[in-house]
Formats: sequence, C-alpha cells, structure tokens
Amino acid sequence: MKIFIDSADIDEVQQVRSYGILDGVTTNPSLIKKAVEKHKIQDMEAYVEKLLRIANGLPVSLEITATDHEGMVKQAERLFDSFNSIANNVVIKIPINPSTESKACYDGLKAIKELTEIGVPVNCTLIFTPEQALLAAKAGAKYVSPFAGRVDDYIRSKLGMSFEKHDYFPQHGMEKDGTLIDDNGIVSGIDLVAKCVKVLQNYGFETEVIAASMRNARQAREAALVGAHIATLPLSVIREMLIHHKTAEGMKKFLDDAPEEYERLMS
Ligand code: E4P
Repeated sequence: MKIFIDSADIDEVQQVRSYGILDGVTTNPSLIKKAVEKHKIQDMEAYVEKLLRIANGLPVSLEITATDHEGMVKQAERLFDSFNSIANNVVIKIPINPSTESKACYDGLKAIKELTEIGVPVNCTLIFTPEQALLAAKAGAKYVSPFAGRVDDYIRSKLGMSFEKHDYFPQHGMEKDGTLIDDNGIVSGIDLVAKCVKVLQNYGFETEVIAASMRNARQAREAALVGAHIATLPLSVIREMLIHHKTAEGMKKFLDDAPEEYERLMS
C-alpha cells in the first residue's frame, strides 16, 4: 500500500519524505487553512510552489472550491497551468457531487471527464458510497477517495456514541438493540474502502483507491488488509503505526543487558 501524507504543512511533508516512506500528498481547503495559520502564510503562491518542490515529483492533490462544472474546470486549469510545471506533480481534487442543488449533481462527473481528457489527473473526493467511486472511475478519475473516518463518525452518531476523533471503530460495524447500524449498507469506513476496492477490481479499472479521512493506525492496517492502493494519513497516524509497548520494553531490556565489551566494538 502506498502512503500519502494528508497535510498541507511543508514541515510535515519534508519530515515524512526524509524517512523514505512517502508516495504522495493530499490537501484540502481545511488543511490549507491549518497551514496558513501555523506558518502565517502571506504569499500562498510561493507556499504552494514550495510544497510541490518538497514533494519532488510525488503527486500532490490540490482541491478546487467552485461548485459548478464551469467553475471547477476553470479553477482546476488555473491551478494545473500555474503549478504543474514546477515539479510535474499536481493532481486536482474534484468532489463527486459539488452541490446539494439537484441540477449540479452531475457537475463533478462532467468536470472529471473534461479534465481527464485534457490530461489533468483527478482525485475524486468526498466519496461515501462504492457507486460514487464506480461513477468517478468511469468518468476517468485517477484516484477516488472514500472518507473512512467520516463514515465511522456518522455511524457512531447513529449509535448515539460519544467518541474522540482518533478512536478506533470496528471494521465489521456495531449493533444497536441487536441491529447492525449502517449507512445504506455500509457498516464502517473500512467497509466502504473495501467495497470501493472490490467494485473497481471487478471491472479492471486502473483508478486507485485512496483510503482517506483516516483516524488511527489500526484503521490504516485494515485499509492495507482490504487492498486499498493508498492510504492518506495524518502525521499522527504515521507515528502511531510505529509504536508498540513491547517494542519499547524489548529495547530497554537489550540496552540494559548489552555488555561493555560489546558496546566497545561499536564505539
Ligand atoms: C483527504 O483527501 C481528505 O480530504 C481528508 O482525509 C479528510 O480527512 P478528515 O475527515 O479527517 O477531515
């Protein structure tokens, strides 16, 4: 499974890149807002250029904000034309369905098709059903991003549970009064990811599934087990993937036991 970092923070991108595990970067307007606040960004153009250079050829998803077909294509072209020449790594994030107004319902698909035809790679975002993923893939999306964590949040709210954002939610769902709680047949975020992977595999699409909105290490493990091509992870989840109390305990024992004569061989 490829690992993308879900962050617009250049320090975090640089850090994870230096570990040799990074395959790409995803941003969204909320993550850009966080970076603006942290880095007190005045010159957004220079910041985005730096982000793309640091990613150094790895794909970086930049999301548009328009909510109609023409506006989305125009913004996507503007971003792609302005920034892709820097490191040849811009991917445009297009929502599957940009507006609750029924007439705009098809605009995401129209934008994906048009951008794909002119060679702009698209990451289709805000995917909450396997059928949305299927339609995005048919329209030509290079990536589809099912939002696993937000599905879990939604199902937990239906269960009446209180929870922290990083809490684990079981892949096979949870019952209330003997009934498995679902969202139109989807019982967890990982269930959504698994079903997106299966649907695209059934028909041989090249579109890659990015497990997005990831909350914890166990969810990242499950995304890998169900065959997600990519997981896009916040830095906190990447860190959590490294930690185990028995690793720490084992390390302490080895350090306590190591004889001086042996230490001298390495000094
Ligand atoms: C990435 O593509 C998504 O925008 C991101 O993972 C959403 O994560 P969140 O649900 O934690 O905001």
